[in-house]
Amino acid sequence: MEPDWSSLEAAARAALPHAYAPYSRFPVAAAIQFADGAVLAGVNVENASYPLSLCAERAAVAAGVAGGHGAVEAVLVLTDAAEPTPPCGGCRQVLAEHGSPDVPVRSLTLQGRTAEHRLGALLPDAFRPASLDRRNPPPPRDVW
Ligand code: THU
Repeated sequence: MEPDWSSLEAAARAALPHAYAPYSRFPVAAAIQFADGAVLAGVNVENASYPLSLCAERAAVAAGVAGGHGAVEAVLVLTDAAEPTPPCGGCRQVLAEHGSPDVPVRSLTLQGRTAEHRLGALLPDAFRPASLDRRNPPPPRDVW
């Protein structure tokens, strides 16, 4: 499936004002296109107990899982930063659970600066469901 970048950007732009980032003052919106074509957004949701803060990418993954939309096919991350910000390490790991290494991850600023990487370049040799061997219960499924 080709990424629908215009829908991804529109979803992220609509969501960004709703980011809850009073502590970092660094609002982030992520939009994900899923295997069934759905495009869903997430925002960072911070907390007065700082470590409980949720990243935008993980919020978008959770929305897709909750709706049963299937694997992650394309990711767009939108910020108002000076430079495009790719996903943090934790989000790379979560994305790798739900999308293949060739998933494109585009970072975009409100000023129009972009960067794009494949998920496999952002997290090479990822620890994945298949990395769990038979000493453990089998993972429920390998989405890609
Ligand atoms: N943040 C994200 O939402 N996604 C990332 O990939 C990087 C960081 C959020 C977490 C925190 O709310 C704020 O940006 C500053 O780190």
